Amino acid sequence: GPYLFAAFVLGYLLGSVPFGLVLTRLAGLGDLRQSGSGNIGATNVLRTGRKDLALATLILDAGKGAAAVLIAYTFGPDVALMAAYGAVLGHLFPVWLKFAGGKGVATTLGVHLAMAWPMGAACCGVWLLVAVVTRYSSLAALVSVASAPAFAWWLMGDLQLVQYAAVIAVVVWLRHHANIRRLLSGTESKIGQKSKR
Ligand code: G3P
Repeated sequence: GPYLFAAFVLGYLLGSVPFGLVLTRLAGLGDLRQSGSGNIGATNVLRTGRKDLALATLILDAGKGAAAVLIAYTFGPDVALMAAYGAVLGHLFPVWLKFAGGKGVATTLGVHLAMAWPMGAACCGVWLLVAVVTRYSSLAALVSVASAPAFAWWLMGDLQLVQYAAVIAVVVWLRHHANIRRLLSGTESKIGQKSKR
């Protein structure tokens, strides 16, 4: 109904705020899309050397997704689900950036946490584990989002949540095609490394 659509639009609008781009521009670092991987996310903000801005980007990109879901949740889980989809799609395809947005990792972790916190927390744990062991942010993201459907089943026992987590995983994997190619060819940069492009 109208609530589902309104929640999707709310999610999209919140999700489409490119915090990494905004924060780096405000800090006088120029256009983030012209440096590092060219992505607008926390990982690429870190390549500018500003750890504080990278952390802020991570929190705000996750927070906007979580906020959209939590607001929508007052109208029920189905409405919240639409806000979650909207937020991730808003981050990936923001109208303000001619639909060329980010890769959706932080925003996915945020919406997962707000949809079902045990699943979201488990995904954060997987991201952290893979990141610490391999030093690849993209690989950590790929494994983390791919593990979400399994956690949705094991921890929540909710098939609709499994389906949702699977759809998000496919979308995030597709958006990482360049990272996957670099990982396979051994040219992906590690966390904190400057080079790439
Ligand atoms: O969080 C996004 C990460 O998975 C990849 O970012 O800048 O290395 O392409 P980047």
